[in-house]
Amino acid sequence: MRTFDDVLIKPRYSEVETRDNVSLETELKCQRLGRTIKLRIPICNAAMDTVSSAQLCRTLYELGGLPVLHRNCTPEQQREMLEESGIPDDYPVVLSISVNDYTERVPRFNPGPNIIISIDIAHAHSIKAKRTVEWLVEHYPDHPIMIGSIATKEAVYDTKAWGADIFRVGIGAGSVCTTRIVTGVGVPQLDAVLECAQAAPGSVIADGGIRNSGDAMKALVAGASMVMLGNVLAGTDDTPGTLLEISGNLYKQYRGMASKDVAVSLTARDAQSVYEEGADALVPYKGATRDVLQSFCRGLRSGLSYIGCSSLDGCTQAEFIDITPNVTRENGVHDVLARQQ
Ligand code: XMP
Repeated sequence: MRTFDDVLIKPRYSEVETRDNVSLETELKCQRLGRTIKLRIPICNAAMDTVSSAQLCRTLYELGGLPVLHRNCTPEQQREMLEESGIPDDYPVVLSISVNDYTERVPRFNPGPNIIISIDIAHAHSIKAKRTVEWLVEHYPDHPIMIGSIATKEAVYDTKAWGADIFRVGIGAGSVCTTRIVTGVGVPQLDAVLECAQAAPGSVIADGGIRNSGDAMKALVAGASMVMLGNVLAGTDDTPGTLLEISGNLYKQYRGMASKDVAVSLTARDAQSVYEEGADALVPYKGATRDVLQSFCRGLRSGLSYIGCSSLDGCTQAEFIDITPNVTRENGVHDVLARQQ
């Protein structure tokens, strides 16, 4: 089983003459509804309260990605976030909900036809997620249903049979996830994406563990139609939270949604009874969200040009080569970057 650092993508003959002309358009195929959602770039934001905001959703919309409204707030606040973002009613937007609040949250948010409803639970191959999907299929039959997190083909087959359309893949892969450390459970992310994308071609979002455009390229070549970004966007201007100055350097908070900090501040649990599977971190300030995303997209365009693709079409035909840790040492840039941090 492999994850991003275990492989490289093998270059292929290319007729791409300029990387600027490489298209990043993507489609998310809704398995149950049988329709596709088209986007200009294969990027969505994590449903995390230190990432998702009205302004971040606006920027993603302007660049052609898929904005996600986090759920660590009331449905009225989610609606305000959407309204404040100014995204038009005919553009797809993801509404994150939980398996505990859906009967209230979805009607109170009152989703328009452009809203994709996303069930957001640490282990979606489970009875509470099943009940949620079944309720949504009954009460909101025309809305695409996204589900996650999952990491196996069995989970894809079952959640698809319940009625899910789009699958968010990644258990414990996220940069502030401690699930694998606390529970010993998880699937290396590259193979999780490969396996799930084979089970639901065109309908997988790779969620977690993507640190740069190279990781995202690997996820797309593995069959993901989009990548979900938390850490890459954390610390940029459009994310919520204030800038902190420590020893002359600027930082922003980035916290896992299953961190003790979230549990204690947003739920009734006291610190001793929390099921803690997330970390609370400070990430360096990265400047304009738009610049970070545009640089990320340039990396993807370049990556596609190396494998002879002028769009995402056919990129899954590229091959992965397994590498050893020596390969990472081969280019000294890693040492240089490590010294800069
Ligand atoms: P990155 O690597 O982009 O990952 O920071 C973002 C994804 O991490 C997941 N997530 C969590 N997973 N405990 C977990 O095990 C947590 O507290 C937690 N918070 C977020 C989520 O899938 C997100 O999109």
